[in-house]
Amino acid sequence: MTDKAVVSIGKIKLKNPLICASGEHVMDRNGIRAALKSGVAAVVAKSTNETVAAREQIKKADYLLLDENWQAIVGDSASARAATFICRSGLTPQSFEEWLAMVVEMDKEAREYGAYVIASIILADLDAAVSMSQQIEQAGVRILELNVGTPYGDEVEDDLLPTERSSDRIETIVSTVRKAITIPLWVKITGQSEHVDRLVLAARRAGADSVVVPGRFMGMIPDLETQRPYLDTNVGVGGYWNLPLSCYWLAQIHSQLKRERKGDQPVFPLVGTNGARNGEDVLRFLLAGASAVEMASAVLAGGFEVLSAAIAQIEDYLKQKDTQASNLIGKAAAVRKFADMPARKQPWKQFLSAG
Ligand SMILES: Cc1cc2nc3c(=O)[nH]c(=O)nc-3n(C[C@H](O)[C@H](O)[C@H](O)COP(=O)(O)O)c2cc1C
Repeated sequence: MTDKAVVSIGKIKLKNPLICASGEHVMDRNGIRAALKSGVAAVVAKSTNETVAAREQIKKADYLLLDENWQAIVGDSASARAATFICRSGLTPQSFEEWLAMVVEMDKEAREYGAYVIASIILADLDAAVSMSQQIEQAGVRILELNVGTPYGDEVEDDLLPTERSSDRIETIVSTVRKAITIPLWVKITGQSEHVDRLVLAARRAGADSVVVPGRFMGMIPDLETQRPYLDTNVGVGGYWNLPLSCYWLAQIHSQLKRERKGDQPVFPLVGTNGARNGEDVLRFLLAGASAVEMASAVLAGGFEVLSAAIAQIEDYLKQKDTQASNLIGKAAAVRKFADMPARKQPWKQFLSAG
């Protein structure tokens, strides 16, 4: 790994822009170690919160990988790129104490890799989140990710896994946690809003060091065989096809933030997620405005080798283009307005059949 791949999220220097996102693949030490060994710059541990119900929810979790015809398939690194991953998930079954001990130990091990293991809380009760954040900081974990935008808000009861869509509430939540801790605070935000940009700016105003955006969507897919929904419920859904939607928001937000920019570095670093399946996708997210990218589904589908292959692709590209990852951030974000485009001669004709 050369210095070409280094990026910064505020004061945190990442050895490359790839982060292994939170999920069942990093619920235990084995998973986290495998992710660290793959060479990623950081691993976000499977999330926790204070509620027993969210921990119990994982017993009812289910997962399915589908091909482009919505047929169930078995995952491997070859199919991971094109597959759609659907699930209903829950939180780690570990107690908060067990989970924290694991994250502390793993974040220490991560130093040997020049990497980080990030603690992740999914908000339920704000006071409890503050208390857990303080314990995380006191235990020596170096970064906290606070997820206020799971896809499951409307599916589970009592705000156990909220999909926060109000800028005001995000500002209140983030500023409350911000005041309680000094370690870098990354806030994960839903993509299920017509104002994702406003939610991000609210988190920033409230003192977040970065936002992870945009979170996954809910979906439902009818099964032709059973004539019921796959997995019988609404599901969190993700695929490579999410990349354009994620890049749209990253570019929108990057452009809004750019107006404040001084010098080369982004004024507020964004961590992209939702739709990156390999190294080339990570580079696309960077060009749209992300400073780093979190990947989960491709790892669940194809194993940790997907991460090492992605890093190799990123390095190859940087070498080939003789550039640095940090130079790519937001390079493609300056999209033009339709009205500014030159007139063209009936370009739709190329899509009409000759007959
Ligand atoms: C099975 C599964 C479990 C997940 N669990 C968590 C979680 O506990 N906490 C969290 O913040 N995000 C969680 N996520 C979201 C991922 O971290 C990631 O942001 C999202 O899946 C989009 O990235 P992707 O397209 O690479 O999958 C989960 C995703 C999946 C598919």
